[in-house]
This record gives sequence, structure tokens and C-alpha cells, in this order.
Amino acid sequence: MPQTNSSIQQTVLTGIKPTGNAHLGNLLGAIEPAITLSKQYPSYLFIADYHALTTVFDTKFLQEQTYHIAATWLANGALDETTIFYKQSDIPEIFELAWILSCLTAKGVLNRAHSYKAAVDYNINNKKDADYNVNCGHYLYPILMAADILITNATFVPVGQDQKQHLEIARDIANVFNQTYGDTFVLPEPIIQESIQTIPGIDGRKMSKSYRNEIPLYTSSKALRKRIMQIQTDSKGIDEVKDPTTCNLFAIFKYFATPTRVSEIENQYKTGGLAYGSLKQELFELIEAYTANSKAVYESYMQDTQKIDSILTQGKEKMRELTKPLLQQIRNAIGII
Ligand code: ADP
Ligand code: TRP
Repeated sequence: MPQTNSSIQQTVLTGIKPTGNAHLGNLLGAIEPAITLSKQYPSYLFIADYHALTTVFDTKFLQEQTYHIAATWLANGALDETTIFYKQSDIPEIFELAWILSCLTAKGVLNRAHSYKAAVDYNINNKKDADYNVNCGHYLYPILMAADILITNATFVPVGQDQKQHLEIARDIANVFNQTYGDTFVLPEPIIQESIQTIPGIDGRKMSKSYRNEIPLYTSSKALRKRIMQIQTDSKGIDEVKDPTTCNLFAIFKYFATPTRVSEIENQYKTGGLAYGSLKQELFELIEAYTANSKAVYESYMQDTQKIDSILTQGKEKMRELTKPLLQQIRNAIGII
């Protein structure tokens, strides 16, 4: 749970990129923790559509995914009296702030950002130019993310473990700004669920759209079952003793079954008698039940995208009432007349 500091208005902010099917990792790592916190604190939940632009270059796909992520947020409770739900691209103040922050950020900080560094290392290992195929948006990504957060002065940012470094960068940038121009920004605190950390995908690596190993949240029953049947395991037979600590199927199962059922299954791994096929079937039923209610709401929003548009327009208006004065304060602080 976040630390409380009574002198600052505690708020929550997080965003999701519309880059592909929302999956169980997004739900457990970011959406659910954010929605839980949003019941306690005023919140900003958004669709990071301009962040998606670093990797998505297909007009129709970006539009579809934006509605998909919007409906996913809404189906999981983003529509609340104390929550502002919006699209990043609707808030021009974010992009102006991003430029201001970029002028306060040492280039070396971005050189060391994990995602950019991974792309460079990949190129070097493949004997390509270090910056082959890396666009400037990818390089500047952490600055845009800092602007997303700092434009609201949000205190808590629920994210998955993979976003930790981005939060550190946002805090560093806020610090540099405060030292240069006087106290303006609160330092945002990442909220990373200890019990969740990183949900594995069907191949055991981090579940991620970019690895194409995700279990989607909203798909047909048939497709969901098929996907779960694809979870990789070893090839041990039913009676053989198995190791639950290295089994990817068990790792995912643990998030959805009751503690009693988890220990029964763990026992079966250790003593023999566990059939991977029936555990997959059980997992499929658990996930289907877990997502059933929100799936119905999701589908109703997807059939009424005009409703999504109008919710986002309201969000934009509420946001800009806050971001315009804050940006003016920042402009005054830096000497823009
Ligand atoms: P992806 O890696 O699939 O592209 P995003 O980068 O859009 O996912 O992530 C959106 C949010 O979901 C972020 O806060 C991220 O940390 C969280 N998240 C993504 N994948 C996982 C996972 N496998 N386990 C826990 N949280 C995750
Ligand atoms: N970078 C985040 C991701 O890949 C998405 C994001 C953009 C975000 N801006 C943010 C998350 C601000 C939290 C706060 O998942």
C-alpha cells in the first residue's frame, strides 16, 4: 500500500498503450491494481495512444486498438466519479511538457533506458548499425511518459515491474526541474504489486504483446481454450513426479485458483498423478469465469463506440481544466512570456 503524506493530494495515474490485445498480464499487473486504488484516491486512467505510435504504423489498427483498450478500461471500472478517463492524444499540454522536460534530461539517461538499450544491443549482436531501425520516439519514450505523469502531479503510479525504470527516470526528471526552477512537481511513486510482479506468458517469458505469448482477456471461448492448451510444459506423463516451481502452467494457475486448490495441485505435482491437459482445462474454466462479467461489459462498449467517444470527450474536458493551469505555472517558472 502507498505511503500517505497528508500535505499532498494523493492521486493515482496509469496508462496503457493500444498496441494489441489486452492480456492477463495487463489486467493483473496494471488494470486491477489501478482500479482498486482508484476507489480510494482521485485517479487519472488513460490510453497512451501516442506512445503506441513508436511501434504501430497502421491507421486502422491503431483506431481499433484504441477502442479496444478504452472498452477494456471501462469494462474493468474506469468510469467512476473520482476518475478522469482520457486519451493521451487529447491533452496537448502533455506534449508541450515533454519538450520542456527533454531539455532538462541528460542524453545519457536515455541511452541507458532498458528498452532503447535492448534495441541497440540487439543490433550490435546482429552486426547492424547500433541505431538501425530505432526511431526517435522510441528513444524519447521515457520523457513522454514522465510528462504523462508530471502533468497531473500524480503521487501513485501502479505499473508492472517492467515499467520500474521509467518511473525512476520520471522522478529524476522531476527532481532536476524542481532544483532548476523551484518546487513544482511531486515525485511519483511506482506501485508494483509484490504478489504479481511479472505474469508469465504461454512460453514462460514475461507475458507481452510483443512476444506474442499472451493470453488475451477478451476473445471467444474457443480461442481462449485453444490458447490455454498451448501453454508450454515439459512432456512428463501423468504418473511422473513434476516440479511446480519451474512449471509455467502452475505459475499462471496460481493467480486464479483458491489457495486450497493451489496446494492440492502442488501436491499432485510432487507426488505424481497430475495430467497437464486436465489442469489446462481447469485453468481455462477459471479464467473464463474470472473474466465473464467484464467481458459482457466490454462487448457492449465495443458495439457502441460512439459512447466511448463521448466518455473520452468528457475526460478530455475535465483533464484540460487541470492541465492548462499547471502548464501555465510551468511556463511562468521557466520564463516563457
Ligand atoms: P505489453 O508488454 O504486452 O506490451 P504494456 O507495455 O502495454 O504490455 O503494459 C501495460 C501495463 O501492463 C504496464 O503497466 C505493464 O507493466 C503491465 N504488464 C504488461 N505485461 C505484464 C505482465 N506480464 N505481468 C505484469 N504486468 C504486466
Ligand atoms: N509505458 C507504459 C507501458 O508500456 C504505458 C504508459 C505510458 C504509462 N505512459 C504512462 C504507464 C504513464 C504509467 C504512467 O505499459
